[in-house]
Amino acid sequence: MSDPKTVKLVDESSHRGSELPLVSGTLGPACIDIGTLYKDTGHFTYDPGYGSTASTKSAITYIDGDQGVLLYRGYPIEQLAEKSSFLEVAYLLLNGELPKQDEFSAFEHDITHHTMMHEAQKNFFQGFHHDAHPMAMLAAAVASLSAFYHENLDVDDPADRKMAAIRLIAKMPTIAAACYRYTIGWPVRYPRNNLDYVTRFLHMMFEVPSEPLQMNPVAAKALDLLFILHADHEQNASTSTVRLVGSTGANPYASIAAGITALWGPAHGGANEAVLKQLEEIGTPDNVEKAVLRAKDKNDSFRLMGFGHRVYKNFDPRAKIIREMCHKVLDELGVNDPLLDVAMKLEEAALKDDYFVERKLYPNVDFYSGIIYKALGIPAEMFTVMFAIARTAGWIAHWIEQHETPGSRIGRPRQVYTGADVRDYLPTGKR
Ligand code: ACO
Repeated sequence: MSDPKTVKLVDESSHRGSELPLVSGTLGPACIDIGTLYKDTGHFTYDPGYGSTASTKSAITYIDGDQGVLLYRGYPIEQLAEKSSFLEVAYLLLNGELPKQDEFSAFEHDITHHTMMHEAQKNFFQGFHHDAHPMAMLAAAVASLSAFYHENLDVDDPADRKMAAIRLIAKMPTIAAACYRYTIGWPVRYPRNNLDYVTRFLHMMFEVPSEPLQMNPVAAKALDLLFILHADHEQNASTSTVRLVGSTGANPYASIAAGITALWGPAHGGANEAVLKQLEEIGTPDNVEKAVLRAKDKNDSFRLMGFGHRVYKNFDPRAKIIREMCHKVLDELGVNDPLLDVAMKLEEAALKDDYFVERKLYPNVDFYSGIIYKALGIPAEMFTVMFAIARTAGWIAHWIEQHETPGSRIGRPRQVYTGADVRDYLPTGKR
């Protein structure tokens, strides 16, 4: 028997029905196309949090949450993590194919030669209070790029779109490092073109004028791997935000700035900072049981940060890679961080606890990443900024795909109205 190509929905009260086509992709379950539902039945669909809703077609990233599969343009994340580099992955996300040598050299050249910030942009940082969160500065600085590059903001021009992608990927580490250095009172460093993408970023973060910086290749390799793992994740909250803003015709810098603010939330990219703070609060492996009890208590808002995922209900393949890498990096850097013992005990306790097993709550990408960032000398407030540098490649790839897709429309969900019924305005004295 062949698979049904339509699904019939009938409203039993009105007997109005709709025969809805199924839309199939290359992989994953078919989706019901509800485009004519309102016209046919007079009903909208209700799906808060979009648990059952595909918002777009996309050829960039595929996730099978039940099997723990993550593919960028068809390539398994495990293979990219082992063999590729962040810049090559960025090229792949943007262009759909892995680059040949000359294509990669040209891409790397373009990125390397757009890393500098406009000098006037540095003045922005002076406007912030010294203890501003770097995510607040990052969002503002990225939005301000549209004021510096307004001559290339035609969202319908493929050359302008490509230029925006190059500028964003190139400048993000420069801006991120500037955010950090401003908060600690160090002079902002210029990007060094003789260094690779990740090493250049570490140099801008940690180099001081008074002495040469010894770059550790282990740190650069670890950071490159974290950037690969964070580069894209299909229609997550921040990418969906970028697409929603992009659907209005907003410029790429404004769209990505919106993605940055969405990423900041602790339920999303802000979790990496929250995990480290939580591990520090737990303090020692002896306190883990208490934390697990609190996380299970429905009268307590406490959640285990770095646990659970909307899509992964088996395991997060990125967490598996990061967990392994965490041990390796700490060993190679000679760092003995007691928080790793707390994290391992917490993972072990949660994974054998019925509450977490029944709800399929596993460590996600952010559970171990903070311990690695900490070992690299990156402060907790910068963790989500690190995530944003990497995710910029995915965000802008989605923004470009959206603009290349014919017939794209403004994103405009409907609602179930629960407010007051129609009523008449009363003068102040009669209310
Ligand atoms: N600790 C304790 N309980 C949890 C946790 C957690 N971390 N996560 C989910 N649950 C429980 C919920 O209380 C709920 O229980 P119930 O069915 O008894 O009401 C059930 O598991 C389902 O949780 P939802 O919140 O409905 O799941 P949802 O898919 O909406 O949320 C999310 C996913 C936001 C990631 C959630 O698991 C969470 O808050 N985790 C902690 C924050 C975190 O690590 N975020 C990073 C995600 S990865 C990323 O964005 C990069």
